Amino acid sequence: MATVLVASNRGPVSYVLGEDGSLAARRGGGGLVSGLSAVSSQESVWVCAALGEGDREAVRRGVGEPGVRMLDIAPDVYADAYNGIANSVLWFLHHHLYDIPREPVFDAEFRRRWESYRGYNHAFAEALAAEAAEGAAVLVQDYHLALVPGRLRDLRPDLRISHFTHTPWASPEYLGMLPDDIREELLRGMLGADELGFHTRRWAAAFTDCAAAAGLGDTRVAVYPLGVDGDDLRALAYRPEVDERRAALRHEIGDRRTIVRVDRTELSKNILRGLQAYRELLTTHPEWRDRVVHLASAYPSRQDLESYRAYTAAVAALADEINTEFGTADWQPVIVSVQDDFPRSLAAYRLADVALVNPVRDGMNLVAKEIPVVSEAGCALVLSTGAGAYEELKEDALTVNPFDVSQTAEALHKALSMPPAERTDRTKRLTAAATALPPQRWFLNQLESLRDRTPAPSPTP
Ligand code: G6P
Repeated sequence: MATVLVASNRGPVSYVLGEDGSLAARRGGGGLVSGLSAVSSQESVWVCAALGEGDREAVRRGVGEPGVRMLDIAPDVYADAYNGIANSVLWFLHHHLYDIPREPVFDAEFRRRWESYRGYNHAFAEALAAEAAEGAAVLVQDYHLALVPGRLRDLRPDLRISHFTHTPWASPEYLGMLPDDIREELLRGMLGADELGFHTRRWAAAFTDCAAAAGLGDTRVAVYPLGVDGDDLRALAYRPEVDERRAALRHEIGDRRTIVRVDRTELSKNILRGLQAYRELLTTHPEWRDRVVHLASAYPSRQDLESYRAYTAAVAALADEINTEFGTADWQPVIVSVQDDFPRSLAAYRLADVALVNPVRDGMNLVAKEIPVVSEAGCALVLSTGAGAYEELKEDALTVNPFDVSQTAEALHKALSMPPAERTDRTKRLTAAATALPPQRWFLNQLESLRDRTPAPSPTP
């Protein structure tokens, strides 16, 4: 039985089924993986969902990593919960992404999907209840699993349960669009936890406001702003495979300056307005033509959703337009990379003169913290007020309203023109802020806080 349990939709490993029937494991990175490495694998279990056919086959064959338990949820239930509710409703609410004249629509189809979301959450709660030792600590992650704490509390009142939200939290007006009973079920599900963690005070306060608006007072929120481990990241960034990619990129861009961005192709990342700002920079400051290259990694994400496919196509089309409008025989103004290739992203980080991080709304955004740590010559960070990282980095970033393309263009100009000494100073301070709470400490702080608490009473019916 485990004394520390983590639950998340996406686990630390995923399997790809080959045509010959072989299973290849793909290991992921991220804050949780390094966070949980602080706890010995004998005492911990990570419960996650089988994401696709490879994972399901691994479950059937009993293939797996020690300490990881994958749940094989029926594919149609999983698709409704993950695509239909988590990514199309909860993600859109928390990031304020709806096209309001048309969306959202809460009809019978929505309610059918919500049943699946509930079933998927209950399957997690049951698996956790079965794996947890008496009094164990359970750290539930993100909007996919908002109903787990409440259900788990009912099944196992002895457990200490936390829930961490990696996204922003919706404003009361936005969350208020949900049908009343569903909104209440969501909030009560979360409030089954002893502690609710958020990346910033802003998102924690939004949750408290939503709970108060629903007449649910007792909210036990805490703020843990996830940072990066500077030593680990630099070690990764100076491996030979990154050196090779760095050399290839340097060859491609010559001695021009670089503006670097790295994102999933994600509606909330604001990639289109970023490209519009770059186009405006080249128009209003023609002196930068042929002297700068915009390296944009925008790798595919959530392509089951039509709005994401359309967004991906729009990003590619706008980058092409800019290249056609300004490009010359030996200068390509924007280089878009759609490969999810972390070594290549690290190579771009190393070469960054300017980092562009302009999400409309983002839980934290670790890219804003990673680039200053890794950039070789120090970089100027253009950062939007919508990123959670804004709270910690605003003093030394050039901050922008994510909707103000002209302001973003001017900030890019200022960033490119920043004197080297100022750039170095700012990068030092950005690096210190970015590494203040590395993943292992982030995780252990939550675990310690949970162990210090007496379990919460069951929410009133
Ligand atoms: C955000 C969420 C994570 C999620 C990630 C990738 O960072 O907070 O929970 O895993 O996006 O999205 P995906 O849908 O591919 O898991």
